[in-house]
Amino acid sequence: MRFSTLLVALPALAMAEEQVPLGEKLKGYWNKAKEAVTSAVPAAMPSPVDAGAAKVAATVTHHLTQDNWKNVLTVDPTTSAPSTKDWMVYITGGNVTCFGFCGNATKAWNESVALLAANPKAPSLAVLDCEAEPVLCNSWSVGPPSIYYFQIPKPLADQSAPAPTARFIPLNRTSVTAKQISSLVLNNEYEKTEPYEGPWQPFNGFLAQYNLAIPAGYVFWGFSKMPSWLPMILISFMSRSFM
Ligand SMILES: *[C@@H]1O[C@H](CO)[C@@H](O)[C@H](O)[C@H]1NC(C)=O
Ligand SMILES: *[C@@H]1O[C@H](CO)[C@@H](O)[C@H](O)[C@H]1NC(C)=O
Ligand SMILES: *[C@@H]1O[C@H](CO)[C@@H](O)[C@H](O)[C@H]1NC(C)=O
Ligand SMILES: *[C@@H]1O[C@H](CO)[C@@H](O)[C@H](O)[C@H]1NC(C)=O
Repeated sequence: MRFSTLLVALPALAMAEEQVPLGEKLKGYWNKAKEAVTSAVPAAMPSPVDAGAAKVAATVTHHLTQDNWKNVLTVDPTTSAPSTKDWMVYITGGNVTCFGFCGNATKAWNESVALLAANPKAPSLAVLDCEAEPVLCNSWSVGPPSIYYFQIPKPLADQSAPAPTARFIPLNRTSVTAKQISSLVLNNEYEKTEPYEGPWQPFNGFLAQYNLAIPAGYVFWGFSKMPSWLPMILISFMSRSFM
């Protein structure tokens, strides 16, 4: 009842102000509000330290994608077996996958990359952005902000290789610091986390072994994309057709 009254009222309102159509008027208000906001907030100046850390982070880290991660996370061809190669992967996200709360963790990661870059003990570093790679994140069943620490053994001469280990280390998105992230490596604190051996293990979990990880990633990503009202509609359709 109210809704239909509104529908009738709207064109009437617009017509009453023929000189300035309603849309134009709203646009005007919007622009004014925008001007007020932008003039009140000074342009954000990145601090030189942040800029330096971000620059180092950009040059030394690899970016993982659904297509390249298997080729990136590999052993160093120049070392001889038996040896392992360590990879530390920072898992991040954006407004959708991290609810916009990954900024502090990313800053801490960038600073720890700057600390680790010069250290011979440091593992290779990579970043997985769940906002850009939602299917890969779902296929590993991981969420930001977190660290995945991999140790990948080089195959022996007969091509046999022990399974890679994977340690999943969630980060506290409020309080994580660069010191915490770098001491995972420098003080071997990653070893406090037990290796993950469940079905989602990226290298030899059940899903990876049967090439089901990426399809599963698509399925879970699809569910996360489904608008929340869709199940309600489907249920109401189904219950109606049963009655
Ligand atoms: C972290 O470094 C990346 C480059 O790898 C940069 O794009 C990003 O803006 C930096 N983020 C912060 C919060 O410093
Ligand atoms: C994320 O959200 C913030 C605030 O809501 C916004 O300023 C920013 O542009 C958004 N970023 C992206 C990539 O959508
Ligand atoms: C980021 O850190 C600041 C303090 O350094 C804190 O006030 C803020 O709540 C943190 N942001 C998030 C999203 O946790
Ligand atoms: C993250 O850190 C904050 C502040 O130190 C703390 O209150 C919170 O309980 C921590 N969250 C988790 C999941 O440990």
